[in-house]
Amino acid sequence: MEKVDLKNIYLKFFEERGHKIIPSAPVIPENDPTCLFNTAGMQPLVPYLKGEPHPEGTRLTDVQKCFRTNDLDEVGDKTHHTFFEMLGNWSLGDYFKKESITWSFELLTKYLKIPVEKLSVTCFAGDEDCARDEVTASCWKKAGIPEERIYYFGKDDNWWIAGETGPCGPDTEIFYWRSNEEVPSDFDPENDNWVEIWNNVFMQYNHKPDGTFEPLKNKNVDTGMGVERVVAVLEGQTDNYKSSIWTDLIKKIEEVSGKNYDDEKYTRSMRIIADHIRAIVILSGDDAGIKPSNTDQGYILRRLIRRMIRYAKKLDIDINSNWEQELA
Ligand code: ALA
Repeated sequence: MEKVDLKNIYLKFFEERGHKIIPSAPVIPENDPTCLFNTAGMQPLVPYLKGEPHPEGTRLTDVQKCFRTNDLDEVGDKTHHTFFEMLGNWSLGDYFKKESITWSFELLTKYLKIPVEKLSVTCFAGDEDCARDEVTASCWKKAGIPEERIYYFGKDDNWWIAGETGPCGPDTEIFYWRSNEEVPSDFDPENDNWVEIWNNVFMQYNHKPDGTFEPLKNKNVDTGMGVERVVAVLEGQTDNYKSSIWTDLIKKIEEVSGKNYDDEKYTRSMRIIADHIRAIVILSGDDAGIKPSNTDQGYILRRLIRRMIRYAKKLDIDINSNWEQELA
């Protein structure tokens, strides 16, 4: 398996196209008490998406530490993580659909060498708030995606907002056929082999608490690519935990438990332990100084520790040994 340095390839690609590389914000939002965690790359950038000038200019790129706890119970399958990293590039009232799509296509097919036959894209079908996004579809066609691989869906699939209110807009999602089976002629969102690898949001509206959509000062681009999932894709793995990001940690869990990851009886427990120890380390190490507790982020930290110990017991790990330090 050849290790792919996705983060550097991505950041350099956008730097060469005029973007400033900015550091990840902490995982716990610095200025937003309404939010426990940063769940997407755009979250620390909300004031700038709303129109405040960013000190680094109008083209930005970064890899943001993200934390999602809404599907904690899903962690243990091949793709879900509590803590993950999200690559992104932003246009703050600078370029829009054409450049965003042309660059996404170029990065995926030329730099990351993904065969175009394995890609499908979806665009916003249109409704009373916003027109059908034919501009995006035509940009994809010009870039090189065949028409039969371009699909339209409604707000449930092709509209992006973090939570209930704030900057939002139609998006275009890029899917990759992650399977050794032949690529089907059509795209089926219900087929798990089609995995979303990148999302480009065209942020043009502010969704207000009264339910209305007010045009933003600028037309922005906000994109997000999950590092763990895409590294696995590029390394030819159908299980995220088999990519180079996780190899050392899974090996350590095998060592402390004396069990084998490929033994189906243990795979799920090992994934949960791997995910949770990484999340616990990141959360405990955040500048906000979180400790296990009964409330907010501290409660999540406590839940993760408890859940990790529960699964460690399932693997007969001696929980009085220093196993968790070894893994951390
Ligand atoms: N903000 C968008 C997402 O997280 C790019 O999918």
